[in-house]
Amino acid sequence: MVHEDRRRHARQRNKLNELSGKDWIKFTKSWFIHRPEPRGDQKLRHPASFPESLVREFILFFTRKRQLIVDPFLGTGSTLIAAVETGRSGVGFEIANKYAAISRKRIRAALNGNGQEPAESRILWTDVVRADSNKLSEIWKEREYPPADYCITSPPYWNQLKRNSIRQKTRAAKGLDTEYSTDPNDIGNIEDYRIFLNAMKRVFDEVHKVMRPRGYLTIITNNVFTGGRMYPLAFDTVSTLSQEPYAWTPKDEKVWCQNDKTLLPLGVYNAWVGNRHHQYCLIFRKENSPE
Ligand SMILES: C[S@@+](CC[C@H](N)C(=O)[O-])C[C@H]1O[C@@H](n2cnc3c(N)ncnc32)[C@H](O)[C@@H]1O
Repeated sequence: MVHEDRRRHARQRNKLNELSGKDWIKFTKSWFIHRPEPRGDQKLRHPASFPESLVREFILFFTRKRQLIVDPFLGTGSTLIAAVETGRSGVGFEIANKYAAISRKRIRAALNGNGQEPAESRILWTDVVRADSNKLSEIWKEREYPPADYCITSPPYWNQLKRNSIRQKTRAAKGLDTEYSTDPNDIGNIEDYRIFLNAMKRVFDEVHKVMRPRGYLTIITNNVFTGGRMYPLAFDTVSTLSQEPYAWTPKDEKVWCQNDKTLLPLGVYNAWVGNRHHQYCLIFRKENSPE
């Protein structure tokens, strides 16, 4: 009884999520190993999707039930599927027709399969917007969506998908896409690194405009090794996004250790080329607003 009272009291005090103190602390560890669930046919068509199970853990930490999540680079819809599975609503923007279509199909299947009570399914909603995220705040206003509570997303890793590499050949051999689209507004098609960073910043300015005050943002990204040097994309994402006027306050990183990736023979007996088997989950918060 005393334990139950303590738990109820803790739940009432918890301003951010519905986790127990034990689960809260567990999630604050700065690294994790995540074994993705096996992927179905639909997922295989997107070359760089993140596992729903991973997104789910972030959603459970940064939101409460029935809150609203946004993903400006939706791909095949992992974020919205994780939202549905955890009883949250969500809006995703995706520039490529084919990925938007796959997202819609997968979300329909998730909605049919999540066993929600009818009353709850009326409260929950998702929307896949086939559009350039540069128009995110404009479309948000037109459709009268409420402010978003949380954003989790994975932008293109600059132009890496288009670049030739050993992994790229493996993708082609498996029949996977080697570029997202040929659309010039797809930021993965920008060749120049600085121009890419600014284009990505503009999209996160858009997300800032629709985010509620003190809402969190998680970006899954990585540094990039190309043309014989490292481009610190993850670190530059932190410094670019913290610029005014739509500044996101950097809070932390969590390192996703990918212990199940194959080691490739890169630079053996010649020079240092690392096997990059981790990604960064960067955590930001909206703590000031230019308006
Ligand atoms: C790394 S992928 C996201 C993968 C996604 N997390 C998933 O699990 O499927 C990046 C996505 O951003 C989309 N994209 C690129 N530029 C965009 C833009 N300006 N507006 C909307 N989507 C864009 C690409 O088409 C691609 O599907």
